[in-house]
Amino acid sequence: EKGGYDHFMMKEMMEQPKAMNDAITGRCSGNSVLFSGLHLDSEMMKHINRIQIVACGTAYHAGMVGKYYFEKFARVSVEIEAASEYRYKNPIVDKNTLLIVISQSGETADTLAAIRLAKDKGAWVLAVTNVVGSSIAREAQDVIYTNAGPEIAVASTKAYVTQVGCMLLLASYLGQLNGKLGENDAARLCHGLSITSGLIETVLDNQDKIKKFADANHEIYDLFYLGRGLDYCTCLEGSLKLKEISYIHSEAYAAGELKHGPIALIDEGTIVVAVCTQEHVFEKMLSNIKEVKARGAYVLAIVQQAHEEIASEVDEVWTIPNMDDDITPIPTVVYLQLLAYYLAVARDCDVDKPKNLAKSVTVE
Ligand code: F6R
Repeated sequence: EKGGYDHFMMKEMMEQPKAMNDAITGRCSGNSVLFSGLHLDSEMMKHINRIQIVACGTAYHAGMVGKYYFEKFARVSVEIEAASEYRYKNPIVDKNTLLIVISQSGETADTLAAIRLAKDKGAWVLAVTNVVGSSIAREAQDVIYTNAGPEIAVASTKAYVTQVGCMLLLASYLGQLNGKLGENDAARLCHGLSITSGLIETVLDNQDKIKKFADANHEIYDLFYLGRGLDYCTCLEGSLKLKEISYIHSEAYAAGELKHGPIALIDEGTIVVAVCTQEHVFEKMLSNIKEVKARGAYVLAIVQQAHEEIASEVDEVWTIPNMDDDITPIPTVVYLQLLAYYLAVARDCDVDKPKNLAKSVTVE
């Protein structure tokens, strides 16, 4: 049942190239995105003056990537909130609001409550979910399925990459509806999405060095992830994955925030994973790396191949192939999933069933 792997999590990480293809197939043709069956159209979009994204945990991190994409490609401003916060704060929501919820299981209690609250106030609710016929799929007015296939391991992996893929498709779709997405961007994004599955494979092929790093460092008691923009979202997801399955404390920071406090925690030998895949902030990341190096940190940098020269500034480099900066979150997070996995295995943790966690959180 685990397809020959030791854990469902590994099986599901290995299924990511196929899951990505299944998420995209039929939705991207040439330069345009199409979601068959979606009611949301350009007429409805004219009345939408507020977009909110609500989700929990890993799905919330996919939503953060989504916010970045929606703002960049559809030029609409987006609010994002954890479902457990949204539902208890009398949110500003009305008939001109588009609420986008993201949920792998489609059963998360807080997310479901957020849908009910927003619908009562007249919002249009679009759900991005993996489970056909789930409560969230049934209660939302529009549904986009992520098509990742069943996810058994508690730690979400293939569901996340497909959620991110769907965020990019949806951002392009909204940009098409409101006329804000340029033709060049449309073609660029469709092409980018079409090659993500191969990009994930190149990361999956690098497991030896990830395992080696994990075996050498499994006694660490904390880990820092630093990134900017899209890389910051990837850092948050990597940090959650690590806490969840290896029980190692970790923090993810927007790298520019470092000097506002957390840098005090960086000491001799502290491991810092610096995710630097975004060209427009690459130099800024380099400065942050120098700051932590000056305090003795051991820096592992993740960069696109074109920036391999960063090796002279850091202790270890993991590369992804050169690609469009907007699609880097998809292959990059796979490195962080594998890092969490191999650290958990090296620490003898029950990878598929971490303590105190359930696959779907149907109670508050
Ligand atoms: C992390 C994880 C959780 C879920 C969260 C939301 O690996 O699995 O953080 O992402 O409980 O679950 P769904 O997406 O089913 O609403």
